[in-house]
Amino acid sequence: MAPTDRSRHREAGTMRVGISGLGRWGKKLVDAFSRHAEVVVCCSGGGLANREWLAATHPSAAWVNAFDAMAAEPLIDAVAIASPTHLHEVQAAGALRCGKHVFVEKPLATNAQAAVNLMRSAEVRGLRLQVGHTFLFDREIERITRETALDPVVTAKFEWHKSGPFTEPLLWALLPHDVALAMSLYRRAPEAVRVRGAVADACCDKARVDLDFGSGAQATLAYDRRSPVVEKRVEVLTVSGRRHRWRSRPMSPPALDNAVVSFIEAVSAGRDPLVSHGAFAVQVVKVLDRIGTASLDGLRG
Ligand SMILES: NC(=O)c1ccc[n+]([C@@H]2O[C@H](COP(=O)([O-])OP(=O)(O)OC[C@H]3O[C@@H](n4cnc5c(N)ncnc54)[C@H](OP(=O)(O)O)[C@@H]3O)[C@@H](O)[C@H]2O)c1
Repeated sequence: MAPTDRSRHREAGTMRVGISGLGRWGKKLVDAFSRHAEVVVCCSGGGLANREWLAATHPSAAWVNAFDAMAAEPLIDAVAIASPTHLHEVQAAGALRCGKHVFVEKPLATNAQAAVNLMRSAEVRGLRLQVGHTFLFDREIERITRETALDPVVTAKFEWHKSGPFTEPLLWALLPHDVALAMSLYRRAPEAVRVRGAVADACCDKARVDLDFGSGAQATLAYDRRSPVVEKRVEVLTVSGRRHRWRSRPMSPPALDNAVVSFIEAVSAGRDPLVSHGAFAVQVVKVLDRIGTASLDGLRG
């Protein structure tokens, strides 16, 4: 059934979405959006296994092989993007040009100018843009962020252990999450960055990044993608001496659902998303750009 045959099934007020990418994370997005909206159509690279997964688990969603055809579909209000990172920029821009609200996985783009262009494109069109910095929507992280509003963070340690193999560099795969978390906890961008490790190289599995937020406030980000144990840890020390500790094994589905609901609420209310909106995501990409440059400088030096 073509997407345009589906209009009669629409419940009043239900957002209708097209989803790009049906890989490991795209499937989670399809599941999450299906719980809160109507997934009308998906597109992917054409791999049979992922198409079969869609047909078996979400038979009412159509599949098309071209992103542009999906973005132009008049029935959908929004596009969610979980295609490979290098496609985020062009696909988000295409969806905005078609008048669709955009939920795009992290990172928003892989250079600061492209990120700024996307933010402006959404602004001039009056469309909503939210980026999938999913940990920001974890309820426990939200609590720590709230409680550190009046008791500011002095030091924060982020540790991430994963087990490979991996094809994306740490810079675009894992750092967007922790840079977003650190900026959200410190409520500003870092003044300086220091890098140990070739974070922009897909072969690099171990690295450490220090973010200096000024006035003695520091965040340390440590990665090990060869760890037999899969775990993410965050430890925060505040001005009053209070310690907040958070740890998670793989990302909990509720955080993704919270992110999807936040996006849908922003679209319904006609306002920017409260968390992880375009302007915030631009700041994250700017910091990632600086980290990438610092890493290259370190390798040359
Ligand atoms: N927020 C989070 O916590 C989180 C976690 C993991 C990943 N992510 C992000 O999600 C994105 C996808 O990661 P992943 O791990 O799911 O990757 P993946 O498993 O490699 O899946 C990529 C998907 O994109 C599809 N694809 C390839 N070319 C395409 C095109 N031109 N248009 C549309 N789809 C296309 C692939 O098609 P086939 O089906 O043909 O292979 C596949 O379905 C990345 O940007 C990553 O940063 C976010």
